[in-house]
Amino acid sequence: MSNNKIADNIYWVGKIDDREVPFHRLVLSSGTTYNSYLLNTEKPTVIDAVDLAFGREFVENLSKMIDPATIQYIVINHTEPDHSGGLAALSGRAEHATIVCTEKAVDELKEMYKLHHRNFLVVKDGDTLDIGGKTLLFKETPYLHTEETMITYCVEDKILFPCDIFSSHVAVKALFEDECGYDITDEFVGYYNAIIHPHRRYVRTLITALESLDIQMICPSHGYILRHDIQKYIDIYDKYSANTIEDKRVTIVYTTIKNNTKKVAEQMKSIFEANQIQTTVFNADKSDMADMITSIQAADAVFIGGSTKYADMVGNLEPLLIQLKEMNLEGKLAVAFGSYGWSGEAIEVIQDYLNETNMDVQSTSKVIKTTGMTHVEFPIRIRFTPKNEQLQKIEHATEFVTDLLQSAI
Ligand code: FEO
Repeated sequence: MSNNKIADNIYWVGKIDDREVPFHRLVLSSGTTYNSYLLNTEKPTVIDAVDLAFGREFVENLSKMIDPATIQYIVINHTEPDHSGGLAALSGRAEHATIVCTEKAVDELKEMYKLHHRNFLVVKDGDTLDIGGKTLLFKETPYLHTEETMITYCVEDKILFPCDIFSSHVAVKALFEDECGYDITDEFVGYYNAIIHPHRRYVRTLITALESLDIQMICPSHGYILRHDIQKYIDIYDKYSANTIEDKRVTIVYTTIKNNTKKVAEQMKSIFEANQIQTTVFNADKSDMADMITSIQAADAVFIGGSTKYADMVGNLEPLLIQLKEMNLEGKLAVAFGSYGWSGEAIEVIQDYLNETNMDVQSTSKVIKTTGMTHVEFPIRIRFTPKNEQLQKIEHATEFVTDLLQSAI
């Protein structure tokens, strides 16, 4: 047991996977690790499991250290199968254990591993759990990098268990970064760029949350445990997620029937301006074509929106879209949007026109393929007056474009 000891009664119980691992459309040629941790307290607790492929091996190895039936809690910080997969095998042997996770994670875990009959403890931001000799503090970290994620902090040992966050993809036997014999910064930044950076908006919240914690060790769920110069790694996340590019401009052009599409445009403008992005809005029916074209040429992102009538666009939008096809707009982001009542054909027609330009047109498919996010949708389709969850839809999409414009990388 002592080989894998990382602190008082805390042990690494993960799996080194030295295969070429397919991962988020990458191939990890150096493999990775799936780090899991046993806190062998009065109420034994396992934090995170391993990849689905290694569930049985994980439980066999764990059984050499502890009778799984005595495990009281299994903390799942993040439901992706490279960390929750071992839960299928572990929960069968740790049959009385309570599964600890966020509210969003419960249904996912129940469905993924047929755990409908199991006890779950739902924790919220700031909740603590006494595991008999140690205290766990939970902080929700939504969208880092999926919606249900949280991090766990062991108060007495000052150890952070952040799952994917602060990870690196390496398959080596050294547990600690300061024992590996080389500088891991490139690997650490490479992981950040690939997995975390698309969600950098939420890294800002994380950095703030960490300020209240005294962290002496970071035990992530891939790669090295960090215990030397912890602040250096936190500072990398802080620096890379910061907004560094100024003077970005957005042009929004719309036509509208009952002002609902106008309201969408105004909502987007207020979000951009809150992020210090200069935003110009045109009603195409009341604006000069040359002014709109000039503004679009100077913009970094172009939003074109329209209401739908008789399954088509309304007003003076089509002449503008025809002109855009003839222009060189390379390097600009483009988004179609609109309010509609029934089918919203105009929004799709606008999207088709934008796809014929050389702008980088945003689509739900592209977002999923590049980031894995499922809460950001393009084109932005709003039914009737934007309110409630429709406002959230506008917010998610606008913030996504803001992040693309403000990328530090
Ligand atoms: Fe390491 Fe999001 O999985």
